[in-house]
Amino acid sequence: MSWTYEDFKKAILDLTGIDLSSYKEKQMKRRIDSLISRSGYDGYQTYYRALVEDKEKLDRFLNYITINVSEFFRNPGQWTILEKEILPDLLKKHGNLKIWSAACSSGEEPYSLVMLLAKFLPLERIRILATDIDREALDKARKGIYDARSLQSIPQELVHRYFKPFNGLFAIDPQIKACVEFRRHDLLNDPFPGNCHLILCRNVMIYFTEEAKVKIYKKLHEALYPDGVLFVGSTEQIIIPHMYGFQPLKPFFYKKM
Ligand SMILES: C[S@@+](CC[C@H](N)C(=O)[O-])C[C@H]1O[C@@H](n2cnc3c(N)ncnc32)[C@H](O)[C@@H]1O
Repeated sequence: MSWTYEDFKKAILDLTGIDLSSYKEKQMKRRIDSLISRSGYDGYQTYYRALVEDKEKLDRFLNYITINVSEFFRNPGQWTILEKEILPDLLKKHGNLKIWSAACSSGEEPYSLVMLLAKFLPLERIRILATDIDREALDKARKGIYDARSLQSIPQELVHRYFKPFNGLFAIDPQIKACVEFRRHDLLNDPFPGNCHLILCRNVMIYFTEEAKVKIYKKLHEALYPDGVLFVGSTEQIIIPHMYGFQPLKPFFYKKM
């Protein structure tokens, strides 16, 4: 009998530890079905076999399903609030900040944060933990080389200060890179870091089921230091923040109560 999507999800969980059941079913299944037929396989089982036999194909599959579109200073208005209101307040209270950029994709988000923090602190005092489930995205993040399009929202003076042309692309300053530690982390399975003063978790919750979101918001709350701030994506406002112990600060920013 041919495999159902349920069989495929179970096999992928056993093979990779990634639980597709926690991602919105309709959207994820549509993407996978379309990938399978575009790649010329006749169903889940044959496609799964190809993934087991070919590590590169498996990496490409994981990269495809995790959707790592990102850009520097994504939604610039929110970064202005971060710069003018949230960071000055956190720095005044805590001095050294423990910061986590969760689901950081290929590094645009944590590097944007370093460029912003460098307006307040010397680079030696800036440390950011940046994590993602996707190893390919993390490899790209560690290289720190980007095309002109992803630099669009970076103020020109920061582009001049922190990027160098490199084979038609742009390489980020090694000193900015040194402020970020990239690590693989699955928001659905792995333990969260603790005592963070600021967590960015943006443009990833949209892919998860309601059940998975509830679990993650609770864990993000636990991961924050008292008064710590969670910065979410532009379509990811938390409907009932008090349910998780969050107090809305500004649109897209929540404080741990
Ligand atoms: C659309 S990108 C968002 C990148 C960045 N935060 C931003 O807002 O530009 C979504 C990222 O979530 C990551 N992701 C998906 N599922 C994840 C999981 N279970 N745990 C951690 N990261 C995950 C993907 O690999 C991808 O890099």
